Amino acid sequence: MTRWILMLVVWASLPACHRPPTSPPTVDLTATPAATTPTSALTVFDSMDTRVAVPLLPMMANHQKQNMRDHLAAVQEIVLGVGNKDFDSIASAAGRIGYSEQMGLMCNHMGIGAPGFTEQALRFHHTADKISAAAGAHDMSGVLSALGETLATCTGCHSVFKQRVVDERTWASLTNQAPPHHP
Ligand code: HEC
Repeated sequence: MTRWILMLVVWASLPACHRPPTSPPTVDLTATPAATTPTSALTVFDSMDTRVAVPLLPMMANHQKQNMRDHLAAVQEIVLGVGNKDFDSIASAAGRIGYSEQMGLMCNHMGIGAPGFTEQALRFHHTADKISAAAGAHDMSGVLSALGETLATCTGCHSVFKQRVVDERTWASLTNQAPPHHP
């Protein structure tokens, strides 16, 4: 008898499965396609780019990209300086990408969540110092070979590392550090 009642209950509930839903019950109607699509596109993009991720807070990532664009502008000035045989402008442009204590601290901060990044960054700045030294000695072929060596440290780093922009909580857990503005 109980079995019959049970079967009846099951049967009575069946048509509900076939009723066409008036609206999909699990879809969050507040999430517009515009809000969801870029996220999944970024996930796909990120999975295609298999380089090692350097975790960075948005402000750090933006700062790093600004620096990078200036690195390229410095290279541009160096090349123009070579064309004009202008050792002073070569030296001043190379000085922008050369090593300084402040630069060292920044590289250390940027690379804290990605082993090897800081070392690669420091190698780059020290190599760029050779451009300034050669410019100081008015040695044009020395400038060019130091520039070539420096560009190899740029491309070497780019082939290994990519940015990963993360929130404060993720950054703190990946780096074992308090977020920068919470000392
Ligand atoms: C220690 C590592 C490292 C070195 C050295 C380095 N870069 Fe980068 N660079 C990066 C990373 C990481 C990115 C972000 C790449 C990404 O996420 O796709 C980047 C991005 C860039 C970008 C893109 C900026 C933007 O606005 O998107 C330029 C241009 C660039 N680098 C130029 C240079 C030049 C020129 C040099 C050398 C003179 C150089 N970089 C040296 C790590 C480095």
